[in-house]
Order: sequence, then C-alpha cells, then structure tokens
Amino acid sequence: MIGVSTKNAASGDAISNKNQSAKDRKSTERVVHVRVLRQDGPGQASYWERHEIPYELNMNVISILQRIAQKSCTQDGRPVPPVAWDCNCLEEVCGSCTMVVNGRTRMACTSLVDALLVEDAQEIELRPMSKFPVVRDLVVDRRRVFHALKRVQAWIPIDGSFDQGPGPRISPDEQQDAYPLSTCMSCGCCLEACPQYTKIEIVKRPEETVEELGIRREAAFHREFMGAHAISQAMLFNNHPTGRMNAEERLSSLTSQGGIQMCGNAQNCVAVCPKSIPLTRSIARAGRAATVWAIKKLFDR
Ligand code: SF4
Ligand code: SF4
Ligand code: FES
Repeated sequence: MIGVSTKNAASGDAISNKNQSAKDRKSTERVVHVRVLRQDGPGQASYWERHEIPYELNMNVISILQRIAQKSCTQDGRPVPPVAWDCNCLEEVCGSCTMVVNGRTRMACTSLVDALLVEDAQEIELRPMSKFPVVRDLVVDRRRVFHALKRVQAWIPIDGSFDQGPGPRISPDEQQDAYPLSTCMSCGCCLEACPQYTKIEIVKRPEETVEELGIRREAAFHREFMGAHAISQAMLFNNHPTGRMNAEERLSSLTSQGGIQMCGNAQNCVAVCPKSIPLTRSIARAGRAATVWAIKKLFDR
C-alpha cells in the first residue's frame, strides 16, 4: 500500500513536473506573428487579420501560408477560411507568388522568415500587390502583365513545328547581353514599384456580356502604360537575329499610346526586379531605337 501510494505520489509528482515543463515549453516556444491583408472577393472591402504560428527553422513565406491554412483560425482562435495565395515553381522562376512582404514587393517563395524577422522582429506583414485587382486575399489578376507582352509580340514566331534547320549563330557577347533579359518571369514587381503604372480595375456592368467586358478591359489596358517588363522584352526579341524580323511591329507598339513615352525614368523598376534585369538599360535602348525608327519613318514618307 505504502509502495503504491509512494508510487502514486511519485507518479503525481512526475505528472505535475511534466505539466509544468509543458507549460514552460509553451511559454518559451517561439512563435511568428503574421498580419495578412485579406479580401473575400473582387471589389470587396479589405481587412487585416492576425495569425500566430510556431517558429521553424528555414521557413519561407509560402510555408507560413501553409501553416496558416492548416490551422485555419486567427491568433485569438476564431475559425476562418484559409488565406488564398498563388505559387507554383517555389524557386523564383514562375513569377506567380509576388506579394508585398513587410512593405516590399517580392517573391513569397524566396522570402525567408529568418531574414524577415531581422527586418522586423515583431511580425511579418503580407499584402497583395496594389497595382492589380484582387481576386481573393493575396491572389491578384495579372492579366495586364501578359496583355503588354502580347502588345509588343514578346516572342519569335515559328511557322510550324517541322525541322527548320539550325538557327542563326549568336556570338557569346550577344548571348551574355540577352541572357539577363530572358530571365524575366512576368512577376510584376517592376510594375508595382513604377509610379507611371496605375491600377486598372474594370467592373462588369449589369447589362454587359463577358465578351463586352473583355473588350472594355483590353481597351483600358491599351490606353495605359505597358510597363518596364514589356519594354525590356521588346528589346530582347528585337536584338535576336530571327526576332528582328518583327522589330518594326514592336517599335510601333512601343511608340503607341501607353508606350515608352510614358516612362518617367524614375528607375524604381530596376531597384526591385528580383532577377536584377538591367531595365534602365533596356528602356534607354528602346528609347533610342524608337526615336531612330520614328525619324526614319518620317523620311520614308
Ligand atoms: S522585369 Fe523583373 S520585376 Fe519586372 S516582371 Fe520581369 S522579372 Fe519581374
Ligand atoms: S524607369 Fe520607367 S518603367 Fe521604370 S519605374 Fe520609372 S517610370 Fe516606371
Ligand atoms: S512560386 Fe514561382 S516564383 Fe515563387
């Protein structure tokens, strides 16, 4: 009996010690505080929401969003739907995970939590890009980014999939010049930072069909600044021996409404490009090429 009570007493002590150490662990467990700007749908009001997740080594912003989705409740325990976000490659190649992290536009997949906590030890703040319409939470509609690439024909037309023989030779110097431009991932960071790039949000009118809405949206995209990414891609393809065949069409787009003349040369774009693309060099080259082309056209009349 004595042995049992002693054992019970001992096991009681062990349990209370265990509870105490669990409490201690909990109180010393490191947590990451996250503030997310949420929006339930297009055109709706946005609101801030706070989350708290256990700290782990080597997390990035995508892992934070995954932990938030697992918990699906706020810091004060209120159940909420998971935060929506976009991502794909997880290695800064696809350009889909762009968001504003601690006030700076960047890629969520390469934004490391340890580095972010050095910037601000209190919390990590996540917001959607402000220059694009919000689809939901951190997901934005980046249609305009791709519309601009279509405007400048940011591709080399290939007539069929049959063997057309070897392509033109390109010198190593030309390759080195072109390579950085080819790493553009249409992420939109340069557009978010650009003072000339303003948000376009077209709301469907009650009587309007989806086709009519699309036409109105495209017309609005056409009127406004195309952005540094499109200018840079136009230069990439105009300097390619095969791409040069469509140089005139690209220059015509670059000098049309919403073209290079709208660039104020503030150079915010080059400062934020995650791929360090020499955008100011592309813009300067495009400006020169457009001027020469316009003068040539004048004398060709
Ligand atoms: S130029 Fe840079 S910032 Fe702009 S879309 Fe391309 S990769 Fe992103
Ligand atoms: S240099 Fe031109 S494209 Fe780049 S941020 Fe300034 S205005 Fe925008
Ligand atoms: S997920 Fe592809 S760039 Fe971040």
